[in-house]
Amino acid sequence: MISVSFLKSKYSREETIKLIDNSNASLIHVDLMDGEYVPNKNFEIADICQLLNDTHKPLDIHLMVKNPLVYIKELVKLNPYIITIHLDGTPNIEETLDYIKKSGIKVGVAINPDESEHIIDRYIDKIDYILIMSVYPGAGGQEFMPSVLDKVEYLKDKFLIGIDGGINEETIKYLKDYPIDIIVSGSYICQSDNFNERISILETKKC
Ligand code: DX5
Ligand code: ZN
Repeated sequence: MISVSFLKSKYSREETIKLIDNSNASLIHVDLMDGEYVPNKNFEIADICQLLNDTHKPLDIHLMVKNPLVYIKELVKLNPYIITIHLDGTPNIEETLDYIKKSGIKVGVAINPDESEHIIDRYIDKIDYILIMSVYPGAGGQEFMPSVLDKVEYLKDKFLIGIDGGINEETIKYLKDYPIDIIVSGSYICQSDNFNERISILETKKC
């Protein structure tokens, strides 16, 4: 499945979301940054709820925030498919994972490039999805880090697996032999004139 991030785009935010929603992408990847967990802040929760209220595709929400539970309590109203959090610095991790699960949403945990795949060990039973970060969180358009793929071996067969950051028609080749379920791609798709063309290039080159 291809999940498209609208963090970096040549179109306005509203237009980009519409273009993704009308494309062949499987999911809309929603990056939310609070200016604390990462230096950049993009928008308030109320803005997201408004922006995504009329979309049709399933939402794949990626929270790059210091206190995810506060955000999650609002975001459940959008009935997302997945909510992914980062564990480092997060208070009440178990409560947060349980809250996502009991809301009927897939529970995702992101692993940063400099974090071990074992950071999830204590929570294995609570997690459905692992998002392997192939860039440091915080901005679109960064360079893909192939070494993060070493983590797949330990994580495969336990969780759904996604990869996020720096995926384009060149770097997609690195994923060929890995069981990746969700490929997140942002600028490669949203900086182009034809979203479906780029999505199909990624689909073809992954196989
Ligand atoms: C990075 C974000 C990614 C990013 C993907 O902090 O989590 O989702 O926007 O965009 P590209 O594909 O441009 O790296
Ligand atoms: Zn993301």
